[in-house]
Amino acid sequence: MATKLKKITVSAQCVAPEQNKSDLLVISFFKDSKTLPNCYKAIDKVAGGQISTMIELGDFKASLNETTTLYTAKAPFARVMLVGLGDPDALTLNNLRLAAGTAVRVASKLNTAKVTMAIHAIADDVDAEHVGQAITEGVNIGRYDYQDFLTKDKVDTTTMKVIIADTKEANVKAIRKGIKVGAALADGQLQARILGNTHGGEINPGTLAAAAGKLARANGLQCKVFNDKQLKDMKMNGILAVGQGSANKSRLIMLTHKGRKAAGTDIVLVGKAVTFDSGGLSLKPSAGMETMKHDKCGGCSVIGAIIAAAQLGIKKNIVALIPSAENMPDGNSYRPGDVFTSYSGKTVEVLNTDAEGRLILCDALTYGAQMKPAAMIDMATLTGAAVVALGTHYAALLGNDQELVDAIKQGAKVAGEPMWQLPCDEGYLEQMKSRIADLKNTGGRQGGTCSAAAFLGEFVGDTKWAHIDIAAVADTDKEQPYRTHGATGYAVRAVVEYLRSL
Ligand code: BES
Ligand code: MN
Ligand code: ZN
Repeated sequence: MATKLKKITVSAQCVAPEQNKSDLLVISFFKDSKTLPNCYKAIDKVAGGQISTMIELGDFKASLNETTTLYTAKAPFARVMLVGLGDPDALTLNNLRLAAGTAVRVASKLNTAKVTMAIHAIADDVDAEHVGQAITEGVNIGRYDYQDFLTKDKVDTTTMKVIIADTKEANVKAIRKGIKVGAALADGQLQARILGNTHGGEINPGTLAAAAGKLARANGLQCKVFNDKQLKDMKMNGILAVGQGSANKSRLIMLTHKGRKAAGTDIVLVGKAVTFDSGGLSLKPSAGMETMKHDKCGGCSVIGAIIAAAQLGIKKNIVALIPSAENMPDGNSYRPGDVFTSYSGKTVEVLNTDAEGRLILCDALTYGAQMKPAAMIDMATLTGAAVVALGTHYAALLGNDQELVDAIKQGAKVAGEPMWQLPCDEGYLEQMKSRIADLKNTGGRQGGTCSAAAFLGEFVGDTKWAHIDIAAVADTDKEQPYRTHGATGYAVRAVVEYLRSL
């Protein structure tokens, strides 16, 4: 299946950047600076004054993610790359993460095996641990390209080593702490992207479960998979209905991270993993249907998040539930008009087989709520309406507990994975009431993201719950500065930052 990932090892050294022998030294600048900052004077001297000349001439504007590379011939560093951080007043860790990612993307095209980074030198008000974390995340997420099926013209991904140079011993210690955190977060996100990028022909509920089991073993997680027979015994009729028309039978995947001795579940994560969403009998139009291989990205993000939580040794008991089905048209498919009894006992009338995500999620949410967690968070590529409402700049965030929503929003901010809250109260639930069953699975075009969440909310009981609709952000066709086309692994780092804050 997926190509083996070549991770970038990041380390910190107590050394003056200009003295560190490397193929490339990366430094950063704020927008429109006209004079060389003091922190780069020694580097400029070694580089023969080229950097100060460039800055004084105003040729390098230092807009966010702008880069230029100079050649230094005799210096301990063969090249020096200037990378822009944009406006100093708008400097966030996200800018450092972006700058680091941008730099390695450019460096990948050069012959650079050993890279020294001093991009934090200019930003003396950000703390060193966060610097280590942001750079480690940025370089590893930035380096990844989905190119499993390219037989030529691959971007070079040979081994690259990054050294963060700092002359203060205390800073170096803190940076090293941050590197460990960043490595775990990047790993979780990359696993989510690798899984997310696979196509429907190579991954289905059964093979996704096998891949999750393999990742679980590698990361010390427990894994339990419920197959279609077990799902039938448990009366998980939502997960079964959606997969009914597919030759690839449904699964419910459960991963457990035991972070503390005592029994009980602290947090449940739930992720929609529809390995391909054709719409079923309510078939989608052909245009763009290929993007529905990404309809498993919520589940992939949940897998990535619990992997990162395990690697970080988060001291909470966390359960990840990944309901997985393939939504296909067939003589055996579930139909518009069908009514089924969900795992909760509530009956649901199916009006549109393309509103399938909520049908697999409802059973998993009920199952999760039975564990009585302190909080339950689900992630799903649930509604096209989320794309219409917010565009691709935010994931939609909804829930029944403002404190939980605020805490996740904060994690999203730290991670640079923005989320915008939408409402899902009573009025939206009205849209989901059926005349012949307890609920129906579509509530009309108005407020589609909100009514879908209101539907989900009916299955969580009194559990504090938040829902992240990642339909707009789970994949991209753009070459973003440090995040390439394909699955993005969105919400992995946001949710893990939330877990870290507990
Ligand atoms: N997987 C889609 C939602 C989606 C749309 C994700 C675009 C990513 C990009 C979901 O299963 C779906 O088809 N939702 C329908 C619901 C409708 C029939 C009520 C939608 O949004 O159109
Ligand atoms: Mn659908
Ligand atoms: Zn879907």
